[in-house]
Amino acid sequence: MSPARVPVPEPPARTARQLREATSSALRRRRADDLNPLRRGLRLERVPDPCSFVLFGATGDLAHRKVMPAIYQLWRTNLLPAEFSLVAVARRPYTDEAFVAEVRASVEAHSRVQPIDEDAWAELAKRITYQQLDFGGDAGFDRLSKRLDELDAERGTAGNRLFYLATQPSQVTEIVHQLGRVGLDHELRGAGWRRVVVEKPFGRDYESARRLNHELAKVFRESQVYRIDHYLGKETVRNLLVFRFGNGIFEPVWNRSYVDHVQITVAESLGVESRGAFYEETGASRDILQNHLLQLMTLVAMEPPSSFHADALRDQKLQVLRAITTPDIEHVRHDVVRGQYGSGWVEGVAAAGYREEPEVDPESETETYVAGRFTIDDWRWSGVPFYLRAGKRLPKRATEIAIQFKEVPLPLFRDSNGDPAPNVLAMRIQPDEGIMLRFAAKVPGLGLDVRTVNMDFDYGTSFAVDSPDAYETLILDALLGDASLFTRADEVEAAWSVVTPIIEGWATMLAPRFPNYAAGTFGPEAADELMQRDGRRWRRI
Ligand SMILES: NC(=O)c1ccc[n+]([C@@H]2O[C@H](COP(=O)([O-])OP(=O)(O)OC[C@H]3O[C@@H](n4cnc5c(N)ncnc54)[C@H](OP(=O)(O)O)[C@@H]3O)[C@@H](O)[C@H]2O)c1
Repeated sequence: MSPARVPVPEPPARTARQLREATSSALRRRRADDLNPLRRGLRLERVPDPCSFVLFGATGDLAHRKVMPAIYQLWRTNLLPAEFSLVAVARRPYTDEAFVAEVRASVEAHSRVQPIDEDAWAELAKRITYQQLDFGGDAGFDRLSKRLDELDAERGTAGNRLFYLATQPSQVTEIVHQLGRVGLDHELRGAGWRRVVVEKPFGRDYESARRLNHELAKVFRESQVYRIDHYLGKETVRNLLVFRFGNGIFEPVWNRSYVDHVQITVAESLGVESRGAFYEETGASRDILQNHLLQLMTLVAMEPPSSFHADALRDQKLQVLRAITTPDIEHVRHDVVRGQYGSGWVEGVAAAGYREEPEVDPESETETYVAGRFTIDDWRWSGVPFYLRAGKRLPKRATEIAIQFKEVPLPLFRDSNGDPAPNVLAMRIQPDEGIMLRFAAKVPGLGLDVRTVNMDFDYGTSFAVDSPDAYETLILDALLGDASLFTRADEVEAAWSVVTPIIEGWATMLAPRFPNYAAGTFGPEAADELMQRDGRRWRRI
């Protein structure tokens, strides 16, 4: 059944009056831009080209919680072009009005800036249309193609299209083939770019990721494909690049001569919530290790790129991924730990064990925790262990990168009171975003007491502006054609070639006796033993 379409207010061709209005609205927007710190500030000298944003899976969870609030926020801060249209695509029948009302409720619930700016919303709402379509049939894609052409004429979207696939991973191939069939992949000369954004997870292992890359490449060129890992859009992750390459004093010590080891933690206090079925198929290694943890590791370990051009950056990240020692079965047995939470208490609230969660097999062997010791075989990092860990139902939500430096060569203050510990540089990715440097200091007084103290930089107090949500950053970048924060085909495959041997190795071994950590604790004992064997311990987050 085709949805009843609410007529779009503007007539097909632009009249002189409309052109005048568009010009004065552009001027108004430009004036607003002058006051907009985002626009004046860091990097935005341009607004994306006129375009249609085609949101597949528009009625889904991700679209409602993340994508639409991000679009609204970009629109509200004048970061989208006036000639913009959003075509929402999903299976259920909706009128434009009904869809807009539903999205409005989600934006209200999830927007980071409240209350909703009514004028901005009214303008954005005019640009949203709903297109009912079943991915399995040709007819909907034929209609979509026609509709996009109409919008070019009605709204001046100039043939530019971004297809955002907020859909199940198994549906990516058929959508992409359909886009190819109706010619929506073809870029036109001079204007008319076509881009596709693909959500994570990208494949389940090395082979499936390769197959997916191959299917995408049958339709789109690599430069048209934007694989999203929303961690890369986080303000603090982007700041890591500025921290490393915008300051002269850290790079000289950023290597095996000075760094003892690196710890990267992605801790979640939540369990699987309503996504038990999804998690059963995924587990912590596919959900976090393959993408977020390895991406953070590449940003810490990469060589300076020659520019911030997307390929220059991604070439360097790829070198790191390729230099990570591929885990063999012995490595998997000794240096990688998996865990699954049992019942316990998290932040004062009783939490059920993983096997008691809805849609989870009561004998599930899916890991909700993974920790591993990895090494990078290159001159900079040879011999420096990188300890990565991620888990659900840990005591708190925190993502952190900690660089621990070597001890001083001669412990001059050995006999003083106190306990000077090695320097640590900790970058807090979320929450309480900031950077902390731990160093030794003399306690005031006549004696020679030495203590470690923290020098802290806190994003929230240092800058009086709110950080954009990662989806705002990434959607805007995709619209601008900047792929530097998106993963390239070879990068995704290289990351899978680190994680696949772990998953395959586990399949040949007996799983540990799950559950092996209680909800509200920092993971299984085996993870602590992994560190103790190396004479180290996990940082207390
Ligand atoms: N949700 C998150 O927090 C999150 C986070 C990171 C990544 N992701 C990724 O984002 C993607 C989407 O996740 P989600 O949680 O938003 O999924 P979801 O809630 O299940 O939404 C799926 C969407 O796809 C549409 N759809 C399904 N089958 C269709 C068909 N045959 N034809 C047309 N439309 C169809 C649904 O439309 P109808 O409702 O009309 O059937 C719905 O809009 C997944 O790849 C997921 O891994 C999600």
